[in-house]
Amino acid sequence: MDRLPRQLVAIFAAISLCLAPLSAFAASPAPVEAEHGMVVTAQHLATDVGVDVLRSGGNAVDAAVAVGYALAVVYPTAGNLGGGGFMTIRMKDGKTTFLDFRERAPLAATKTMYLDAKGDIVPRASLDGYLAVGTPGSVMGFETAREKYGTKRREELIAPALRYARDGFTLEQGDAASFASGAKRLARDEEAAKIFLKTGGSTYMAGEKLVQPDLAAVLQSISEKGPDAFYKGAPAEAIVNASQAKGGILAKEDFEQYQVRELKPIECNYRGYDIISSPPPSSGGVIICEILNVLEGYPLSYLGYGSAEAVHIMVEAMRYAYVDRNAALGDPDFIDNPVSKLLDRSYAASIRAKIDPYRAGTSANLKPLGGKESTETTHYSIIDDEGNAVAVTYTLNGSFGAGVVAPGTGVLLNNEMDDFTSKPGVPNLYGLVQGEANAIAPKKTPLSSMSPTIVTKDGKPFMVIGSPGGSRIITITLEAILNVVDFGMDISQAVNAPRIHHQWQPDMVYLEPYALSPDTEKALAAMGYKFDAGNNTPVWGQAAGILVGGKSLAAIEKGGGARYNGAMDSRAAEGSANGY
Ligand code: DON
Repeated sequence: MDRLPRQLVAIFAAISLCLAPLSAFAASPAPVEAEHGMVVTAQHLATDVGVDVLRSGGNAVDAAVAVGYALAVVYPTAGNLGGGGFMTIRMKDGKTTFLDFRERAPLAATKTMYLDAKGDIVPRASLDGYLAVGTPGSVMGFETAREKYGTKRREELIAPALRYARDGFTLEQGDAASFASGAKRLARDEEAAKIFLKTGGSTYMAGEKLVQPDLAAVLQSISEKGPDAFYKGAPAEAIVNASQAKGGILAKEDFEQYQVRELKPIECNYRGYDIISSPPPSSGGVIICEILNVLEGYPLSYLGYGSAEAVHIMVEAMRYAYVDRNAALGDPDFIDNPVSKLLDRSYAASIRAKIDPYRAGTSANLKPLGGKESTETTHYSIIDDEGNAVAVTYTLNGSFGAGVVAPGTGVLLNNEMDDFTSKPGVPNLYGLVQGEANAIAPKKTPLSSMSPTIVTKDGKPFMVIGSPGGSRIITITLEAILNVVDFGMDISQAVNAPRIHHQWQPDMVYLEPYALSPDTEKALAAMGYKFDAGNNTPVWGQAAGILVGGKSLAAIEKGGGARYNGAMDSRAAEGSANGY
């Protein structure tokens, strides 16, 4: 009689020891803690490249450049030299800036280039092959960042990428899976197949090595001669030749004339937190701020994460903001973006006044859709010992971009042209129904949703955040911020929590699994909401976050938390947060 209870006590004690750490971290892994620097990326080898740069005295911009080159090798699904992106920077002295190295439409591009004689869209013309390619900006972007805000030599920052391209790197399960998912498309281009598939067309398996000698040669020449080696050298020439031979319109002049734009980031304040994010040609910062301005009028924290009331007002704010995204925004060199109107607090108040507290809104009563989301964009977040913070999102757009590699370059090319309005009212890859503001024109940049974001509090860095996810990037980034600021989550819970999304059209609330309890869903359905439980896209995005001063607001308030707390979304199979 006596022995059994004692055994049971011992068993219970052992079980509770095992469970204690798990329950402390709820459903998410513990954030990674570090005191001097933190790097969070979607590929662990690239993360470690960034940490090495920080450790050896480089600043966050140096690390961001080295990671950018490294991801082009070890994460070819999204990392790239043949695409483009955005870098949001906040230096330790408080200076904020934004580098736009996104693709530009070729000089020969026309408004109707993806339409047939009848004015109908030619299926996939803006997605597959050379006609889909915008002039790439990544190499010029990295070099501009390094020259203006970095401290290290180009050769040093390219060296790790060069090594991985030349000597190869071992694929993990997630790396191999991404090639498997792109195999069909890659097989259609002889050069892409030669690099990313095995002879005979089968895909690489986990444990095997991927070696990219052509890409190594391109990196070597950039390392030696700078961006001209790419834009005025053999890679540009090879891309132009292949483009001309295979139905594209890229010309030598497109590469020669490519320039990075340095822009003022979008800035707004939400409940005392300063949000620094992407300006047009991204819609990201404007739309995140527009939604936050609306939400500030509601007691989100009191309503609680996942409550019917919180979801209702979040969805309504998203609905109104995405109409503005799709109708009003575009490349600032071509159109006047109504940024100050959209960010005016009285405009937010006018949206709140239209939100019925008890009923779902109706998108058809507003005015401009839900496509599939893929993971072929990538975001990384970095902070260094001095407090310089960098958020980068860059992309090939769709799965392996246009799916083409010009012979001898090893460089996968983007299909960013699909982000333009090919035809007003017709949805693009992400289901976005856009208007004239984002029409195609020579040298114009297509409207983006990429939202590399830095949040500060009282003049000090607080959070670095962003994600891939097509049109959903905006709501993923927004929700990570709300999860920390309003819902009290730690940074790991904040990037991992199930998400919701609405983008005006289709008039549908997208849900990740377990985002809502069944009774919450019923309550919202009774208010008039329709749901898409994500049969096509069960989960979306890969957020990469850093929180400064503690893992959560509560930990920061208590004091004594780690200085840097990093978390890579568990949705990214091979991602990691790492620091020193
Ligand atoms: O710039 C944009 O908004 C899109 N080209 C991003 C694409 C993307 O996030 C795809 N991967 N998830």
